[in-house]
Amino acid sequence: MSFIQYEVQGAVAVLTIDRPKALNALNSAVLEELDATVSAIDLEAVRCLVITGSGEKSFVAGADIGEMSTLTKAEGEAFGKKGNDVFRKIETLPIPVIAAVNGFALGGGNELAMSCDIRICSDNAVFGQPEVGLGITPGFGGTQRLARLVSPGMAKQLIYTARNIKADEALRIGLVNAVYPQEELMPAALKMAAGIAKNAPIAVRACKKAINEGLEKGMDDALVLEEGLFGSCFETHDQVEGMGCFMSREKPKPKPVFTNN
Ligand code: CAA
Repeated sequence: MSFIQYEVQGAVAVLTIDRPKALNALNSAVLEELDATVSAIDLEAVRCLVITGSGEKSFVAGADIGEMSTLTKAEGEAFGKKGNDVFRKIETLPIPVIAAVNGFALGGGNELAMSCDIRICSDNAVFGQPEVGLGITPGFGGTQRLARLVSPGMAKQLIYTARNIKADEALRIGLVNAVYPQEELMPAALKMAAGIAKNAPIAVRACKKAINEGLEKGMDDALVLEEGLFGSCFETHDQVEGMGCFMSREKPKPKPVFTNN
């Protein structure tokens, strides 16, 4: 891999977009490597993924403007699909994904962060969807995920004005959960990931599925989905061990690798 670094530390994996000369902008090659890396994650061993960008200036400064500058309509649509497919793969990965946004998260960078379950950022982070200033729409899910994540009115304002916002405003509108000094960002992300990884993995995955898929349904169907996933946790090792140990006041013994029971 030329543009992606991938490292596993215990049950936590860290994926770094590594194209610092272009502020980690996403060209086709980066998107293809990102797709291949995410597809190859060992889901038996890894319980939480952290995505960040290399350097201290940029998470991802967007889709590659040079590559997009000469695309035809059909090629533009295909490029949008390439980004959407890999971001959807991240969004629907069975394990939780934390975006550690270490600087610019513009256009495709903000869209990558929004495809993750949780966003935290450094105090120098800048978020925005600058696309209309370039004569295009957000193309890697920005029109859809920003409207769902903040509010339709705020998403429209940010997208129509192409105005960038700093970390404190991103926190205020709920785009990120917390802001840290740059040097504290990765330790905070890894601590959060370790906190997630120590919990019962079948239950954590079921929670992700319940929340993500439930948000796409009406409340009655969403509650049925929750009931099914709640039920699926019973008779598993983690439920038997977790509840048994609570009753006997012992410490639960986790399974070494993930299995569905
Ligand atoms: N695509 C390609 N190259 C990019 C890039 C991008 N999105 N963003 C930055 N770069 C490159 C610059 O061209 C520059 O390369 P050279 O050194 O070879 O000239 C290098 O990264 C450093 O950038 P700057 O010199 O511009 O750094 P700066 O500190 O002065 O400015 C910045 C930083 C404000 C992020 C500025 O680079 C910028 O505005 N970048 C573009 C941001 C943007 O518009 N992103 C959205 C793209 S569209 C999109 O993402 C569509 C979609 O939804 C799929």
